[in-house]
Amino acid sequence: MKRDLSVNLGNLLLSLSEVTDIANPSITQHQHRTAFIALQIADHIKISNQLLENIFTAALLHDIGAISIEEKTELQNYLAPDYDLHCIRGELLFEQTPWLKSLSKIVRNHHKNWSEWNTPINDPETLASQVILLADFIERSIDKQQYILFQTDDIIAKINGLKDHTVNSELISAFLDLSRKEEFWLDLSSPRIYSILLNQGPFRNNEIDLNGIANIAELFCNIIDFKSRFTSTHTSGVAACAEKMAELFGLTDIEILLMRIAGYLHDIGKLVIPNSILEKPDKLTPAEFAIIKCHTYYTYYVLNSIGGLQTIAKWAAYHHEKLNGSGYPFHCKSNEIDTGARIMAVADIFTAVAEDRPYRAGMGKDDIYRVLTRQADDGCVDPRFVNLLFDNYDTIYNYVREKQKAAHRFYEEQFTRIQGSKNGDGS
Ligand SMILES: [Fe+2]
Ligand SMILES: [Fe+2]
Ligand SMILES: [Fe+2]
Repeated sequence: MKRDLSVNLGNLLLSLSEVTDIANPSITQHQHRTAFIALQIADHIKISNQLLENIFTAALLHDIGAISIEEKTELQNYLAPDYDLHCIRGELLFEQTPWLKSLSKIVRNHHKNWSEWNTPINDPETLASQVILLADFIERSIDKQQYILFQTDDIIAKINGLKDHTVNSELISAFLDLSRKEEFWLDLSSPRIYSILLNQGPFRNNEIDLNGIANIAELFCNIIDFKSRFTSTHTSGVAACAEKMAELFGLTDIEILLMRIAGYLHDIGKLVIPNSILEKPDKLTPAEFAIIKCHTYYTYYVLNSIGGLQTIAKWAAYHHEKLNGSGYPFHCKSNEIDTGARIMAVADIFTAVAEDRPYRAGMGKDDIYRVLTRQADDGCVDPRFVNLLFDNYDTIYNYVREKQKAAHRFYEEQFTRIQGSKNGDGS
């Protein structure tokens, strides 16, 4: 295993940003396009490289506080009953990530009108928030069914109407300058927007190391888990279990960290699944189950598009593959499923069956043992890792519980409180 594994920061952020927006045609590439517009405006008004990087990063992740596809679709179509909620959640998520902490207020204020600010436009936080607000408005004004150059006059008129009250007039002027070039609109609506941002974005020469990747992966662990109360500690549990099993199996320190990152990201494809399916208390229909089955495909799709993360992509995305070839979606053969992926499959089943779900209570040790030995007997999972789990049950169980308790505390005491306090019930 390479000791100096690193990935391009732009590549990592673009792929992780993309996954939250691929679910539904009306929101596809919303954050990418918002980041493109924000980058163009920021570049036009001549600001420092640091501020440009901050605006680009915040724009790529500005709506991460919108936790379901349903909520994102409402925001996109101006139907959300409350725009503040996703801003406060986004702020809280950014605050948990050391590298993003300083950008949390930009996300908090990305729907705050210019008339509500008491600071000048050259204040960095004010400027960044206003640039993203304007970029977000422009992106949402585009009718995705119509050819872009036939609608620019309408969009420009609409944006002009935001002057002074909603958006600072200097930023509107910068947009008007940019809007004169067809190139701006054609790039903006191009299916190649990912590679445009990768090549023109501020992170084209920035690499991020494994610890940095782990920080960002942990942020996504929270985004995935907090989609639903029923799964609010699932990912943190799988990551802890996989990490501990890797350590007990004797993998190297680097591999143990890779395992934890893969655990954080194993269900990232669930961001594509509507909450109405994820939270359904009854049995899923065949159509709904077919949609659920897509999630590991998307986990692979996203992670494999990040150069350098190919091992993590397999360890994360193969957790529903079976050694006998009966798994999904790739139907891998046993020789394609390596140690990391085998550990992840056992960690995922263990964590899932131990958790309470809307339709059943979490299982105890004996029942978990029955489930896993049956899976091993049927040729689905590797018996070596079932034995490893039960030979070290208390060590692994306690480690998983400790991590899940911390995630649960954050979720219950901070994340869900936002909703309660906004509803005025103080819960
Ligand atoms: Fe937003
Ligand atoms: Fe947005
Ligand atoms: Fe899964």
